[in-house]
Amino acid sequence: MPTVMITGASRGLGLEFTRQYAADGWRVIATCRTPADAGALAGVKGTVEVHPLDVADHATIAALAETLDGQTIDLLLNNAGIYGTRPADLGTIDYPAWDEVMRVNVMGPLKVAEQFTEHVAQSGRKLMVAMSSRVGSIAANDSGGAYIYRSSKAALNAVMKSLSVDLAARGIAVVMFHPGWVTTDMGGAGAALDAPESVAAMIEAIAALDLEDGGRFINYDGTEVPW
Ligand SMILES: NC(=O)c1ccc[n+]([C@@H]2O[C@H](COP(=O)([O-])OP(=O)(O)OC[C@H]3O[C@@H](n4cnc5c(N)ncnc54)[C@H](OP(=O)(O)O)[C@@H]3O)[C@@H](O)[C@H]2O)c1
Repeated sequence: MPTVMITGASRGLGLEFTRQYAADGWRVIATCRTPADAGALAGVKGTVEVHPLDVADHATIAALAETLDGQTIDLLLNNAGIYGTRPADLGTIDYPAWDEVMRVNVMGPLKVAEQFTEHVAQSGRKLMVAMSSRVGSIAANDSGGAYIYRSSKAALNAVMKSLSVDLAARGIAVVMFHPGWVTTDMGGAGAALDAPESVAAMIEAIAALDLEDGGRFINYDGTEVPW
């Protein structure tokens, strides 16, 4: 039974990844900030273990890595993310909020990857996937604004690209995904895709990945996203 570990599994895309991987027979290590408040997650059927994990709190990341010491993780899914304050246009930038977004969207995923590298390196699939966004694409930015979220996902891409180079020697592929514009709390009700559709497509694309795919920035449908 392959194992996936997911951050931000309490709702949105993380919860849907938990549902679909559990339904596919995977062991799911579903992590979230406050398991006691994650009622929908507690109701997911299958081999699902829920653990507390705040990606902005490095001590909790290290503690969970220690708890899971010696266990293999085929797929590490760095999904947790925040948008920050809205709007984030010129003249309205909330700089303390920007600090927090960088801690959650950039430093958190790298710290999780650092702490769980051994768990992934000892697995069969050896995959790390980071939930990025097309909004983080510098080449595709033709609308401006969104300074906080945009810069955090561009930085996440830079970080994950370096990680893909550094971990290739360990046989680990590190890949970034754009999930589409999805109807979650972050995406809003007017988004183009629902979470089951986005996640089903990403799971299909993830299943086809191997080491040569390390460093790619991929749309949910498997096509390339420009940097
Ligand atoms: N929805 C879209 O259209 C879209 C598009 C592009 C990229 N994305 C990316 O996809 C990922 C998932 O987004 P979503 O749409 O599912 O968002 P969402 O519905 O707002 O859910 C965000 C998840 O992240 C968790 N989270 C926030 N801060 C955390 C922290 N410090 N530690 C651990 N977990 C934390 C939340 O947990 P709590 O319940 O505890 O708050 C929640 O489970 C994000 O990285 C997002 O940037 C989404």
